[in-house]
Amino acid sequence: MAAIFCLMGLALLTQGCWGSLGQTDIGCKRWHQKGADVCCEECYPGNRLIKECGPDPRTLCEPCDPGYYTLKPKAYSCDRCTQCVGAQVHLEDCTATKDTTCGCRDGLACGNDQCSFCVEKCAKGYEPTDDRSCRPCPQGTFSDKSQKNCQPWSTRCPHPNQRIVAKGNASSDIQCITEGSVINPRPDDANQTGPLVLILIIAMTTFCITITIFIIIVAVKHNQRRKRKIVKPLPPTESPTDDPRTLIAIECSFHEAQQEQGSTSTESLISNGSSKLVIA
Ligand SMILES: *[C@@H]1O[C@H](CO)[C@@H](O)[C@H](O)[C@H]1NC(C)=O
Repeated sequence: MAAIFCLMGLALLTQGCWGSLGQTDIGCKRWHQKGADVCCEECYPGNRLIKECGPDPRTLCEPCDPGYYTLKPKAYSCDRCTQCVGAQVHLEDCTATKDTTCGCRDGLACGNDQCSFCVEKCAKGYEPTDDRSCRPCPQGTFSDKSQKNCQPWSTRCPHPNQRIVAKGNASSDIQCITEGSVINPRPDDANQTGPLVLILIIAMTTFCITITIFIIIVAVKHNQRRKRKIVKPLPPTESPTDDPRTLIAIECSFHEAQQEQGSTSTESLISNGSSKLVIA
């Protein structure tokens, strides 16, 4: 895996080197036949014309020397690479097909597209002028980025459900706010429904707990009454009236409740009838 990445990286690197040297294509790219010779119409990028016609298109053009570049398809000479000077800073090297890229020092801005000179960088609220200085934005206009021309303030908010909360100034357009987020009473509604839901949940929970406790109490009471009925007639020997299945059911469901009361009757019941109950 690592080896593959290494190879890929190497391939990219070598490609980049070839590309930057402009050595991928040498000679004439497009030509026409003229007798026994060919005449070049267009050299490969980064190549300059040596002679117009000849027997071999590869010898009609040759790459620019280091420090030179060309953007023209059929020029006898290459141009010297620009040196970034003065307020300029060097950003990218020159190649046979591309001139040096220069920038400008901090606080300065490129004066043209090629950045062949630097100008004072105009702050927010100012705009560049033709004489390479800055002037404040006229009333009713703004510039919210350095070196940006002043634009008129918006007359309305971009969305219909917005309203203006601040007027424009030299460095900022009008400020808009979405109606629903602050003015609409909907958030207040939400704040009121919040506690309402909470109260409902609490009430429901309380109700459920009460009902459960009530059911448990009733069940325990019922069981106690029944137990008395069952236990009383129980003689030391087995009782023929007791259905073993009922006994199991009673024992299972109310064993815990009986434990608290330390009922000896249940225990005796178990010890008496356990063998029979387990079999049943
Ligand atoms: C311009 O308006 C913006 C937004 O309303 C504000 O933040 C800024 O401070 C104002 N600038 C000046 C110079 O008044």
